[in-house]
Amino acid sequence: MRQAGSLTAKALQIIANEAKPGITTLELDSCIAEFVIANNAIPAFYDYHGYPANACISVNEEVIHGIPGNRKLQNGDIVSIDFGVIVDGFYGDAARTIRIGAVPDDKDRLIKITEQSFYEACKVLKAGIRLGDLSYTIQSFCEKNGYGIVREYVGHGIGKNLHEPPQIPNFGKKGTGPVIPAGAVLAIEPMVTMGDFNVRVLNDGWTVVTSDGLPSAHYENTVLVTEKGCEILTKI
Ligand code: MF3
Ligand code: CO
Repeated sequence: MRQAGSLTAKALQIIANEAKPGITTLELDSCIAEFVIANNAIPAFYDYHGYPANACISVNEEVIHGIPGNRKLQNGDIVSIDFGVIVDGFYGDAARTIRIGAVPDDKDRLIKITEQSFYEACKVLKAGIRLGDLSYTIQSFCEKNGYGIVREYVGHGIGKNLHEPPQIPNFGKKGTGPVIPAGAVLAIEPMVTMGDFNVRVLNDGWTVVTSDGLPSAHYENTVLVTEKGCEILTKI
């Protein structure tokens, strides 16, 4: 899973370097898939429940599951790229929200707080805490900073499948839920909105957007739980 994680992180870094005004999201999708195949791995999302692309690329008010297409990225856009690979049967899954050109301060802060909410969760994560402790940490940090936490989509366990139990909500109560054991591998993925947390799915059947049309950010890593803390696997 360390190998799958590191390849996932590298692929996301490559796509982040390519993402500039004028490039289409489909071009980014092809680029990331070529990189992964050249490294003898498999893009994990293609055809997953019929998903029609390699990466999920979601722009501005799109929260997750944006389908790559002919949309050209523009100066000031924020773009959430969610990607996973399979290496020797094991999965890696991660997401980053990146800035295209000069991004307004409010979008910039949304991205920073979303990332930081993940690291706040990492600080409390170790074997023996309860799932609700993790969920509560993410929710309280984002809400304290004035943002919404998406309810309908959640993080998950990960291993020989992309999605394994348990579901990992980004909202919840301290001291509730199952105890997390050492050796668990979790995909923790706050989806954070600038305005209201309600979302809807577009007619393409995939793209999740905010109901109020305000921007959203996403940050995800695959993480190994240890006795003392946690190890981020989707890093370079
Ligand atoms: N990457 C998503 C997750 O974090 C799953 C993508 S589902 C797909 O759980 F169908 F779009 F591939
Ligand atoms: Co995930």
